[in-house]
Amino acid sequence: FVPLIPQDEGVDSEDDSSSVSSYGSDLSGRRGFTASSLSVTERTGSLLSVYSDAGDFGNVTVQGSVEFALMYSPLGELVIMVEQCQDLAIANPRKQRTDPYVKTYLYPDKRSKRKTSIKKRTVNPVYVEALRYKVKREELPGKTLNLSVWHNDSLGRNVFLGQVEINLRTWDWGHESLTWYNLQPKTADNPEAQENHGLLCVSLKYVPPEPRGGSKLGTGEIHIWLREARQLHRLRPPGVDSFVKCYMLPDTSKKSRQKTRVVKKSLNPVYNHTMVYDGFRPDEVREACCELTVWDNNKLSNQFLGGVRLSLGSGQSYGKKVDWMDSVNEEVEIWEKMMANANSWVEAELPLRGSMTPRK
Ligand SMILES: *[C@@H]1O[C@H](CO)[C@@H](O)[C@H](O)[C@H]1NC(C)=O
Ligand SMILES: *[C@@H]1O[C@H](CO)[C@@H](O)[C@H](O)[C@H]1NC(C)=O
Ligand SMILES: *[C@@H]1O[C@H](CO)[C@@H](O)[C@H](O)[C@H]1NC(C)=O
Ligand SMILES: *[C@@H]1O[C@H](CO)[C@@H](O)[C@H](O)[C@H]1NC(C)=O
Repeated sequence: FVPLIPQDEGVDSEDDSSSVSSYGSDLSGRRGFTASSLSVTERTGSLLSVYSDAGDFGNVTVQGSVEFALMYSPLGELVIMVEQCQDLAIANPRKQRTDPYVKTYLYPDKRSKRKTSIKKRTVNPVYVEALRYKVKREELPGKTLNLSVWHNDSLGRNVFLGQVEINLRTWDWGHESLTWYNLQPKTADNPEAQENHGLLCVSLKYVPPEPRGGSKLGTGEIHIWLREARQLHRLRPPGVDSFVKCYMLPDTSKKSRQKTRVVKKSLNPVYNHTMVYDGFRPDEVREACCELTVWDNNKLSNQFLGGVRLSLGSGQSYGKKVDWMDSVNEEVEIWEKMMANANSWVEAELPLRGSMTPRK
């Protein structure tokens, strides 16, 4: 499917490759991440401490965010590069003090505690430390990374400051750049709060092939009107310079790629941008998947903020099993609605996924 309107509006070449750095360059070239010592604390940590880091008596309202990157190194290690936190809660109101550190578990292994160093008297700690797990690549899909931030209290009553949970089954391993995550409260019973990466508001229109005389078959078009995104990841103030990239899968060539302009400094960017893909023969719309991803436009490497895949979610395309045909709920609904309402716009507010399964 070839885009009718090439919309490459001179955004620096942020194709996938610039936001996906190779393991090698990430591990060596990057900002001197240091491995923190962990074996000692790990051995002495009791099972009890899994859920209550030396007694969790604090009761602060979770706020702020944490920046880290995940990658699987050629050495057979899962590496969590913990960069920094921002705008943490005051853990000890009496002393107006927060001494934060970051802790990770790789569940279901309850003995997998790793910790960064403790930074003193700051709600904006900078770590630049790598936490590592020796783990086989094929075991990763069964694991969940639980990253939490704690205040190291002088009386040993450490205070929980927030957490981020990442299901490694659905993690996009191509995404290796540093990313900000909002810290979440402990109550893990609210999946929506845990998974809030914002919304993407889109309208779709299917224009079927014109009936033509003779034997020549016309082709149809899909129009994508990218209206806006809402509640994007809270990054550093004053907001994020974002754009949306679109592929019409299974075509992953440059010709299939279209982008919106960059909207500056907004967590609720209005793109108001239309893209058109043509060349759909009858029934081919069932085989295609529109992949929309939102990116933080960054000179060094663009950061993935969230994405959706719009399709029938059938798990296959043209009779072949493919992992990117993985649309769910609203993502399937809008595609079905589009097919059922030819020539008219159908609209949806789609929850952005925090990670996407890579397409092979
Ligand atoms: C993740 O870790 C935090 C802190 O250790 C804990 O409170 C929370 O229950 C854990 N989440 C899960 C799903 O185990
Ligand atoms: C924690 O604080 C909230 C609101 O400030 C309060 O409703 C709750 O009871 C407190 N919990 C504990 C265990 O102190
Ligand atoms: C963390 O707290 C303990 C007491 O629980 C204290 O002995 C230790 O010095 C603290 N660590 C730092 C780096 O402040
Ligand atoms: C969106 O674009 C259309 C046409 O380009 C324009 O008429 C409309 O006013 C725009 N809407 C917003 C909210 O910018």
